[in-house]
Amino acid sequence: MTASAPLDLSAIHVDISRSRGLPAELYVSEAWAREERDRLLARHWTAVMHASRVAPRSAQPVELMGLPLLVARDDGGELRVFHNVCRHRGHKLVAAECRIEGVIRCPYHSWTYALDGTLRGTPHIGGPGVHEADGFHKSSYGLKAVRTVEWLGVVFVNLSGDAPPFDECVAPLKARWEAFVGTGGFDQLSVAATHPHMQLEVQANWKLAVENYCESYHLPWIHPGLNSYSKLEDHYHIMEGAVGAGQGTLAFDFASREGISLPQFVAWPGDKHSVAEYVALYPNVLLGLQMDHVFTIILQPLSHDRTMEWVELLYVGDGASDPACTFARERTLEGWREVFAEDVDAVEGMQAGRASSAFDGGVFSPVMDNPTHHFHRWVAARMSDEK
Ligand code: FES
Ligand SMILES: [Fe+2]
Repeated sequence: MTASAPLDLSAIHVDISRSRGLPAELYVSEAWAREERDRLLARHWTAVMHASRVAPRSAQPVELMGLPLLVARDDGGELRVFHNVCRHRGHKLVAAECRIEGVIRCPYHSWTYALDGTLRGTPHIGGPGVHEADGFHKSSYGLKAVRTVEWLGVVFVNLSGDAPPFDECVAPLKARWEAFVGTGGFDQLSVAATHPHMQLEVQANWKLAVENYCESYHLPWIHPGLNSYSKLEDHYHIMEGAVGAGQGTLAFDFASREGISLPQFVAWPGDKHSVAEYVALYPNVLLGLQMDHVFTIILQPLSHDRTMEWVELLYVGDGASDPACTFARERTLEGWREVFAEDVDAVEGMQAGRASSAFDGGVFSPVMDNPTHHFHRWVAARMSDEK
């Protein structure tokens, strides 16, 4: 199945008041989802996994809209990402998460690879008992590596290999948030000692999770609990060029409401204790920055209408790992679980609506939907091959 006629994305105008949203094809068509993977996800820095899920001497397969990848960590802790396919006859190399005692072994004809991707063994390649073949150079057939970088515990890949350097891509967001955490402040973060993760599968296209995350408009109806103290009118829009978009609040005080306390960023400005910001780092990471923790959500597109959301909590400094903070870590994770679960119906409802033949991309509130529109324009530009 291939994507048919080119999409007309011209209705996504600069002016939000006249703009339509992205057409239904970009949410309901498997063929367009593959196009989007190759035109959009592959050309940017796309998140594939939390680094903490890969132990030394282990390998984990991961798929990006059907594309098989392999995340591997060697003895020294170095993490690499490869295409998960054997260089011999193309068998998928690793089917499930595994510890690698020696080498990675292909299940088909037992060719073996080191954790750095080097081809090590080619049993009987030259006939029974002959493990070399004339003219065959193992050095030419290592696993194909993918350009990889880690930030905030997230493993990003650039499949096309030609995206600008990651640091350059995220520089505006880093600069924005260094005003809160201080220069180098993110280095104080580590994965929660307990209650670090949750996971939600959503029956919706990954872009709908981004769009929902970008806006605070839905707060009164979808998040009545959160909206009881961090209200619609306490929110502001964030739009950071090609980096991402989202929203911030001036009234986040989860910890004091819960009676919990966690170490805070030392540099966090004294007059901004109730500020928190929520930014979708394009294409597929949702970031939450609070004075005492950060969360990262990787949106893994499983298909055109299914997304896995991998959530990880990070805390500030070694003190946050103290057993005395266990209850605070648990409450923080559970607090977010409640909020994120409330979003599931909203996102799935938008997916369901896109099955309607009457759906025309929808329109935007010119005041409330600016970050969502920002994302639509970003997607439209890339799907139209603009830069
Ligand atoms: S396909 Fe992997 S060893 Fe033959
Ligand atoms: Fe929400």
